Amino acid sequence: MENREMQNNAGHLVIGGCDVVELAMQWGTPLSVFDEELAANNARMYREALSSLPEYEIIFAGKALLTVGIARFMTNLGLSLDVVSGGELYIALTAGVPAQRIFFHGNNKTAADLGTALDLGVGRIVVDNLYELELLSDLAQKKKRTADILLRIMPGVEAHTHSYIQTGQLDSKFGISVAHNQAIDAVKLACSLPGLRLRGVHCHIGSQIFELASYAKTIDVMMSLIAEAEALGIELTELNLGGGLGIKYIDGDQPASIRDFGAYLTGALKSAAAKYNLRLPKIMVEPGRSLVGAAGTTVYRIGSIKENKGSRTYAAVNGGMADNPRVALYQAKYRAVVANKMDQAPEHTYTIVGQFCESSDVLINSIELPQLEPGDLLAVFCTGAYNYAMASNFNAVPRMPIVTVYRGQSDLVVERETYQDLIRLHRIPDRWLKDGVEGG
Ligand code: LLP
Repeated sequence: MENREMQNNAGHLVIGGCDVVELAMQWGTPLSVFDEELAANNARMYREALSSLPEYEIIFAGKALLTVGIARFMTNLGLSLDVVSGGELYIALTAGVPAQRIFFHGNNKTAADLGTALDLGVGRIVVDNLYELELLSDLAQKKKRTADILLRIMPGVEAHTHSYIQTGQLDSKFGISVAHNQAIDAVKLACSLPGLRLRGVHCHIGSQIFELASYAKTIDVMMSLIAEAEALGIELTELNLGGGLGIKYIDGDQPASIRDFGAYLTGALKSAAAKYNLRLPKIMVEPGRSLVGAAGTTVYRIGSIKENKGSRTYAAVNGGMADNPRVALYQAKYRAVVANKMDQAPEHTYTIVGQFCESSDVLINSIELPQLEPGDLLAVFCTGAYNYAMASNFNAVPRMPIVTVYRGQSDLVVERETYQDLIRLHRIPDRWLKDGVEGG
């Protein structure tokens, strides 16, 4: 496979104008490199792609990659922010994201978190179920507040993606099903409960979706629900279609471009509006992966290389499933290059494994690379979404830092964890400080 990436005269990979070999020297490895221009371009493309809609809002799905700096960066780009927990809400507020631009999601929000969201006056609370609807109504009354809400609907559409990241089918754990009138009944209930202002409906059918037809089906279901509500005199002025647009991890992946996605949604929305004789509501989308996935590259150092005679050649990196659990979880596939050998042709097939104590700690099953030597730098692409966000400290390995690169400059977004960080919350109960343990 030829290298499509930028390289300099030294044969080194270049991202955001920075030589990746120099980045590795400056910041150490493993290292997550965030190409901010790429992410900003994606945000701009979303805006352009939806610009023929009368009203729209682009909301970054923070679960893909949320740090205080990234939240600030996305806000600077004019995006709103989707958060799914008290912790994500805290990060958003610390970053200075205006409360009005925060969408609060989650299928099991706590009363405490809902209370905080009410106190802050977050833009929208996306209510997942009837229990939460009643809980929020009670809390709002107690606090003498009115919550602006969307109802999360399960539209009964099966998106073509890995089953672990499908969310729109009728047995999903998310949202209120359209089956058996449950969705319209919830709309009626939401309008009758005090302390709530129902603004519209929300859905999210899954993630890493290539087939746009699932979105047309979803739009039809949602617009039909809006029409049903209108017939009852209930005006739903907002339709949030969630995220889900896929990205190209490897050759052969064929996601739609952001532009085509926007054009497709716009077309499907306009025809559904005509079909149901509705005015177009304000449209919201919540992309995560398609904004930041391709902007992230993980740079590892190659260590042991093991030729298993009669089997395969393993090359191990100083990271793996704790920083990228997606391979073990979803059989995700990645493309990589040797950052310090961009001018060399692939000549060997390797299996790239991590350093963690599990056989499932394989990052890439089979990849053609130039001859590897210990000390080489492996750059794995498209690790900007759901990598840092899902990283753990398995085997007590500190999480890697994130640096953002822009026109030759690199800056820290997250520092490398230290061993001290790992034990910061550890305690030894006094009784265990004595010699010996009773009963031991
Ligand atoms: N909105 C809602 C309500 C969501 O649940 C999600 C993702 C998004 C938006 C953003 O979806 P995106 O545009 O990123 O596809 N950990 C999995 C992905 C889980 C997605 C969860 N929800 C993975 O690594 O593939």
